[in-house]
Amino acid sequence: MGMTIIKSFTFTMSVLTAMIVQAQEGIFDEYREMMGDDNPAVFVIDEGEEYWFAPAGPKQATLAECDLGLGPGVLEGAYAYLPRYFEDAGRVMDLEARLEFCMVELQGRSREDIHAKPYSLRGDQGTEMEALAAFIVDQSSAVAVSPSQDRPEERAMYALGEELFYYRAGPHDFSCATCHEQAGMRIRLQDLANLDSHEGAAGAYTSWPAYRISEGVVRTMGWRMRDCLRQQRLPELVMGSPASVALQTYLAVNAAGAELAAPGLKR
Ligand code: HEC
Repeated sequence: MGMTIIKSFTFTMSVLTAMIVQAQEGIFDEYREMMGDDNPAVFVIDEGEEYWFAPAGPKQATLAECDLGLGPGVLEGAYAYLPRYFEDAGRVMDLEARLEFCMVELQGRSREDIHAKPYSLRGDQGTEMEALAAFIVDQSSAVAVSPSQDRPEERAMYALGEELFYYRAGPHDFSCATCHEQAGMRIRLQDLANLDSHEGAAGAYTSWPAYRISEGVVRTMGWRMRDCLRQQRLPELVMGSPASVALQTYLAVNAAGAELAAPGLKR
């Protein structure tokens, strides 16, 4: 008798959960349809362009000569080849690490200044880093993800990323894989990407940076990594740090060949 009640309760709960999930997805799809191609990220892209050409820092220089890997000032397609090794820096960099490098080298800005507030809080206006990322990644739209793995440093970064992905730590003993290894898992009604597969990594990697409807701002891939480490209850991930570059390299290589479609739109 008791078991039957519990069983039917469990059953009712799972039906309810499924209904809520469907309703949520319905609302999101409706919103997406309503917006059509009008991803609010377009405004952020424009803002990023303004930042790119605005003199800043002690040197009052612009970022226009920043080399993202395809030559100074070449933006078209550049993001698709990141993360990659940069001779002038002597290390593998993701987009945020490279932007920081250019801000320091070209504009004479300090690391402290750049790291003061790279990511906005919910409901904020959005930051320079977020706008620049939207502007730059947009110019690789429909380009295939092609992170370089030619150099030993780049392959080592992938290996480190893979190690971090499966590394269990923190009070819950979670790794990225705990939440992101199996297809079809959910946490608090959110779909969890299966990131060790090509398909899962491709779907995720190609859609960031993304405009987050729930937060009203564009979020970068670096922010996404940092927020997941927070969910793992690990120390805060530093923007552009080797751990961040390694995780992004792991995802990019797993996603290789898929076409970029960012900035995306996320709930
Ligand atoms: C406690 C569970 C949990 C752990 C551990 C976790 N994540 Fe996540 N991850 C999430 C949730 C929840 C989302 C958001 C899903 C959504 O918004 O639909 C997410 C989203 C993502 C996304 C974006 C997927 C997409 O399609 O937009 C990426 C990439 C990602 N996580 C990477 C990682 C990496 C790398 C790690 C390890 C450093 C990690 N996650 C650890 C729960 C987790």
